[in-house]
Amino acid sequence: MAIRWRNTDRTYGVVAAGVHWLIAIAVVAMIALGSMMVDLPPGSADQFQLYQLHKSVGILVLLLTLARLVWRLVSPAPPMPDSCPTWQRRAAGVSHALLYILTLAVPLTGWAMISASVWGIPTVLFGVVPWPHLPLLPELPDKAAVEQAMKLVHAGLVWALAGLAVLHASAALGHHFHARDGVLLRMFGRTPAAAGMRPRAKGSP
Ligand code: HEM
Ligand code: HEM
Repeated sequence: MAIRWRNTDRTYGVVAAGVHWLIAIAVVAMIALGSMMVDLPPGSADQFQLYQLHKSVGILVLLLTLARLVWRLVSPAPPMPDSCPTWQRRAAGVSHALLYILTLAVPLTGWAMISASVWGIPTVLFGVVPWPHLPLLPELPDKAAVEQAMKLVHAGLVWALAGLAVLHASAALGHHFHARDGVLLRMFGRTPAAAGMRPRAKGSP
């Protein structure tokens, strides 16, 4: 069977679905890694290695999200199935937009934090690719205050992203088990009809 790279009007293609799951797994792993690494002894070799890994995966998430948005312009997302009520379409549109914003804002605030850091520690992605600091921030007169503010914003946005991702995953499971409209299967490249799913009629319990 030929691989379908692009989205169709009924389902997601390999590129959009593959990047979606890669980012979802990376975000969950990064929340665990970030929460764990900040409690290690400051200045230890373990902490240094884990910070470098955290920065590397975080920048990868930033680049993948940008690539994903470009791909979305090339290959538009399938519209929600006809069986979905208008409020669900709106809720999906708003929450997907917020998920995109947060998956960009979380790594950007992390990058701003390390760029303003008084320690000025260089970042080498996966030990191979040197990654620059954001321009201007290393020259600020009160770098410590900016670094501190970015730490708070980074941590705050991470928890907003985690909360929204839980709601989003619950909605996806609700589509699958309650509405039975195949929306979850579309993120695995399947179409509701091919998966033998028949959506509940609008308004049925
Ligand atoms: C998907 C992207 C990311 C997620 C989900 C994430 C998540 C987290 C979490 C949960 C923490 C712990 C917060 C706390 O409890 O104080 C953290 C801390 C941190 N993150 Fe990220 N992060 C991401 C991307 C980045 C990026 C791209 C960078 C830098 C290039 C970065 C740099 C840091 C640093 C330096 C800390 C430690 C802050 C401290 O010492 O208090 N993060 N991150
Ligand atoms: C942190 C983790 C996650 C993030 C950041 C995320 C982000 C997103 C975004 C931005 C979209 C919109 C895609 C587009 O049309 O351009 C989307 C769609 C989708 N996500 Fe997630 N997601 C995450 C986790 C999950 C999980 C755990 C599930 C399942 C349990 C899931 C199921 C879906 C489904 C089914 C769609 C397609 C909805 C539709 O067809 O309209 N996602 N996700």
